[in-house]
Amino acid sequence: MIEKLASSLQKHLNGFCPDTLIILGSGLGGLAGEIENPAIVNYADMPELPATNVSGHKGRFIAGIIGRHKILCMQGRFHLYEGHNPQIIKNLLAAFKLIGIKQLIATNAAGSLRTDFEPGTLMLIEDHINFSGKNPLLGMDDEKYGPRFPAMNNAYDAALRKSFEQTAQKAGIELKKGVYLMALGPNFETPAEIRAFRILGGDAVGMSTVPEVIAAVYAGIKVLGISVITNFGAGLCSTPPSHEETLASANVAGKNLTALVKKFLEEN
Ligand code: HPA
Repeated sequence: MIEKLASSLQKHLNGFCPDTLIILGSGLGGLAGEIENPAIVNYADMPELPATNVSGHKGRFIAGIIGRHKILCMQGRFHLYEGHNPQIIKNLLAAFKLIGIKQLIATNAAGSLRTDFEPGTLMLIEDHINFSGKNPLLGMDDEKYGPRFPAMNNAYDAALRKSFEQTAQKAGIELKKGVYLMALGPNFETPAEIRAFRILGGDAVGMSTVPEVIAAVYAGIKVLGISVITNFGAGLCSTPPSHEETLASANVAGKNLTALVKKFLEEN
């Protein structure tokens, strides 16, 4: 399946060899507009991929150039709350590695677990807590694409984080740092869960990213992860979170994220 996915991707990319994968979170599509000479491949045109249909997620690859890099951008991801087999994410990331991807920039919209991370905050992900109960690496493995028991010590690559912090500093854009906790969703959390997640060590909560990061580490792809805080977690403010608020807030704060990622890819 991994080889099949890789050759299908290569065929659709017509000889273009991307080095950087960008995964766009909900409402964070602005970065796609920065890609020069974009070529689009709809997920629906690749029978190897499952269908995805969350509002705010387009479901397509955009290939092209940003700064010094050949980019493959995923506009729309395979959320586990859609009921996908998590293994599709391992297969995808292993296929990306086969076609030459070396680094992943994973973005997401997330809820805040702390009152000092307000909506609009950009958070560099330093580490994660997999609270989803799922794992993309489940299943038989012949260790052809990665280790059976990958270490997660440097899942969010320290050198990439340092470079990204320098980019933010130079750009004068505030960047907080923290731990991303993944809940499976699709419901937003209860106030009790938000309190518990904070005690567990999380700074932001969301329903994505962790499976992709685990699969990327497995496949040997370096990861940079950034959350856009779109709302306070349930119980931290008087209004309940909603998907509409997430999309609206991500659109605004996403502008800073777009500027930063673009600058980062121009400088590094
Ligand atoms: N919880 C979970 N996922 C989210 C949230 C949230 O509050 N906001 C954006 N994605």
